[in-house]
Amino acid sequence: IFYEVHTIHVQKIGTVPVAKGDFGRLPLKAQKFIAKWIQVCNPRALYICDGSQDEANEVIHKLEERGTLHRLKKYENNFIARTDPADVARVESKTWICTDDKYDTVPHVAQGVPGILGKWCSPKDAKQYLENYTGCMAGRTMYVIPFSMGPIGSPLSKIGIEITDSNYVLLCMRIMTRVSHDIWNLLNASNEDFVRCVHSMGVPRPSQRKTINHWPCNPEKLFIGHFPSRKEICSFGSGYGGNSLLGKKCFALRIASTIAKEEGWLAEHMLIMGITNEKTGKEVFVAAAFPSACGKTNMAMLTPTLPGYKVRCVGDDIAWMRFDETGQLYGINPEAGFFGVCPGTNHKTNPNAMETCLKNSIFTNVAETQDGGVFWEGLEDEVDPNIGITSWLNQPFRIGNPGKAAHPNSRFCCPAGQCPIIHPRWEDKKGVPISALIFGGRRPTGVPLVFETFSWEHGVMVGACVKSEATAAAEFTGKKIMHDPMAMRPFMGYNFGKYLDHWLSLNKAPNKVPKIFHVNWFRVDEDGEFLWPGFCENIRVLEWIIRRCEEGSDDIGLKSPIGYLPRKGSINLEGLDKPVKWDELFSLPKHYWEDDMAESKRFLQLQVGEDLPEKVKQELDAQEKRINEE
Ligand code: PEP
Ligand code: NA
Ligand code: MN
Repeated sequence: IFYEVHTIHVQKIGTVPVAKGDFGRLPLKAQKFIAKWIQVCNPRALYICDGSQDEANEVIHKLEERGTLHRLKKYENNFIARTDPADVARVESKTWICTDDKYDTVPHVAQGVPGILGKWCSPKDAKQYLENYTGCMAGRTMYVIPFSMGPIGSPLSKIGIEITDSNYVLLCMRIMTRVSHDIWNLLNASNEDFVRCVHSMGVPRPSQRKTINHWPCNPEKLFIGHFPSRKEICSFGSGYGGNSLLGKKCFALRIASTIAKEEGWLAEHMLIMGITNEKTGKEVFVAAAFPSACGKTNMAMLTPTLPGYKVRCVGDDIAWMRFDETGQLYGINPEAGFFGVCPGTNHKTNPNAMETCLKNSIFTNVAETQDGGVFWEGLEDEVDPNIGITSWLNQPFRIGNPGKAAHPNSRFCCPAGQCPIIHPRWEDKKGVPISALIFGGRRPTGVPLVFETFSWEHGVMVGACVKSEATAAAEFTGKKIMHDPMAMRPFMGYNFGKYLDHWLSLNKAPNKVPKIFHVNWFRVDEDGEFLWPGFCENIRVLEWIIRRCEEGSDDIGLKSPIGYLPRKGSINLEGLDKPVKWDELFSLPKHYWEDDMAESKRFLQLQVGEDLPEKVKQELDAQEKRINEE
């Protein structure tokens, strides 16, 4: 046999020495998982992480010596990593869900139409990719990271074990998830399963590929495979966050969405925030789903400009939500940190994020000022304009130079607990009660600042029609409106039609389904100027939403073909720098909406086909009719 189970103080598994930890005391199911991958990956040593600070210090020290991490002397315990420039973002084209039945993963797309809602990989094709794992950790240490998504021991939480040969991944996982020795006890004490996360940079030693920036990666063999049936994620070839911090998108959204469907809850690409009316003392929690790059992090921790309101952040990217036995929806943030986009973040747009990453944070692909601070596009007003800067590509840079100092997808990775307005209940095991759900996107034309949907079913249809302006791929110059249903397009774990069915199925006794809203901070006038100031002023829209969730607020809503719009004057505009062109901000150009509905219908027919729930079709038809009859 390859290893003996439950031997106390196992010093070797096969021929692989245990550099740290007590393999023999791990739960049997964890031992089996680890032993299997040791045999496949052939690491030099095994290192079982315990989540302690000593452990972090040891790894950081090693990475500083090697050059992967560089200490930022302006702050306390902050570091920069610069990646191989070929490894800077999520790679959707190589991200797969692997199931026996294709239609468990993707809907019945119309013939000849390339599906955009999920990528299916057959078990046979996956096998080829998985062969790349053979010997992939030669000469490297295999780290075993036990972690919890959600507060340890919460009934809403789930356990994962990530094995990785990247110590950058270990350090970021320690920030983004709860890494602890207690996970083993939890696994031992319950018959709970764990999600199997297997990550490798894909560069065994001696390396065949030139390593750039002390950042080993293997873009040619990149593969991010999800296996829902065995709750396993296999990520190969990339060290970049979304591809390698497997607790985040891979587990907490793609795998969790499949578990949530089975168990009757929701795993969503949503922020959670609490808004307190200081006069009444009443606090309301909302969860909001926007596609990537629409400002979820900014909204989750906004500083209200309206007096008498307090905002506190529960989470900025992912929400796990479940109706309790009384029918109230509760949500947790399964993550423990923020992995946010740097460019555009500054003391005006998001002072709380700036404060959160003053210490114990890892920055990736940002620029550095000569006094050991960070720099990225958007911080021009916060540093000495003549200061010397080293760009993310390690080139000298001055403010005003052409080109970018930081990569557009450069990131901060910081502990959520350091956020000045983190909610005292952010780690509440029961979660927080969610009163409203909000969808939104970047919609330059046609779509009003806010509207409330007529019903849960109407709201699900509106969510399915979410679109957003994305900067198109680098070879195009224009911007393009892309569909991103429920803001989940890149993160769906199963057939999107079945996912809509699941949402619809939740409107049953005793569940009190929350109201669903749609917002758009990004509408512009004919000169391309934003009609709404956005950012911290969005509290004004949240105030309207909260009032609509209370009894007796009928007078502030006006029925329109797409939902209830705010009655003129029912959003507080006092104290805004510029007058708001209300009529333009809320107009519903008939031609725009006729075209938009036709386009959305066509999209869902082509992309979801026969899997599109009848209820959603009815809602689309009903809305189309309301618009035509207007
Ligand atoms: C990521 O790419 O790692 C990530 C967190 O993505 P997003 O900003 O789209 O949420
Ligand atoms: Na580097
Ligand atoms: Mn996200």
